[in-house]
Amino acid sequence: MRKKIVAGNWKMNKTFDDAYELVEKIADELEKIATPEMNVVVCPPFPFLEMCGDMSQESFFAVGAQDVSEHESGAYTGEVSAAMLASMEIDYCIVGHSERRAYHNESNEAIANKVKQLLANDISPIFCCGEKLPEREADKQFEVVEKQISEGLFGLTAEEFANIVIAYEPVWAIGTGKTATPQQAQEMHAFIRSLIAKKYGKAVADDTTILYGGSCNAKNAKELFANPDVDGGLIGGASLKAEDFLTIVKARI
Ligand code: 13P
Repeated sequence: MRKKIVAGNWKMNKTFDDAYELVEKIADELEKIATPEMNVVVCPPFPFLEMCGDMSQESFFAVGAQDVSEHESGAYTGEVSAAMLASMEIDYCIVGHSERRAYHNESNEAIANKVKQLLANDISPIFCCGEKLPEREADKQFEVVEKQISEGLFGLTAEEFANIVIAYEPVWAIGTGKTATPQQAQEMHAFIRSLIAKKYGKAVADDTTILYGGSCNAKNAKELFANPDVDGGLIGGASLKAEDFLTIVKARI
C-alpha cells in the first residue's frame, strides 16, 4: 500500500544513552502530532533495535534495521539474519544503501537475496537506489537506477513487490548538503514508477511508496514532499536531531 513515510537512517551514530534520548523525544512529540496516514520509521544501529522496538510498542513509530544478511542462518560471523530481526518485531529494513554498495561491495544479486530474506520474514525492505555524480554528469542516471531496480527487485512476483518501499538516494546528494532539486527528484521518482508500471502494471506502480533521500532536511523537506511521486523521505544527518527530524515529519503530514 502506498504510504507517506519519513524514515530516519541513523547510520553508525549515537551511543545507547544518546539513542534513548533521541527516540524518547521523537516518541513524546509523535504522541501529539501522529495521524493514521503518517508513518514514521526509526532505523538505529543493530545494538539499539531492541530498545527502540520496545519503545515503539507504546508509540507511533515503527522500527527498521539498516542491513540484513543475504543468508538464512549459519556460520556468518557478525551477520544478522532476517529471522532474527523478525523475532524482535522489526517492520522495515534498509537494503542496498549506497554506503553498503560502496564500502562492502554489495552487488545487485546480493541485495536481491537480502530482499528475499526479508520478505520471507514479513519485513518490508526499504530498497535504496541512486546514481553517482559522474553518472549524473554523463546523463546516465536513468540507466543506472533501472539496472539497480531490475536486478535487485524485478525477480519478485507482483504480490511480493507490494511490500517493497523504494528510496531514491542520489549518491552525490548523500551527506553533501547538495540536495536534488524538487524537479530532479520528481523526474526520477516518476521514472521509477513508470518502470514498475511496465513490469507489474499501473495499479502496483500507483501503490508503491517511493522515498527521496540525500541531504533532505528541515528546510527543504516540504518542497521535496510536495511532488506527486515523492511519498516521503529517508533521512540521514537530519534524523539525528529530534527537532530537525520532527520538522521533516511535520512537513509530510
Ligand atoms: P543524508 O540525509 O545525511 O544526506 O543521508 C541520506 C541517507 O543516506 C539516508 O539513507
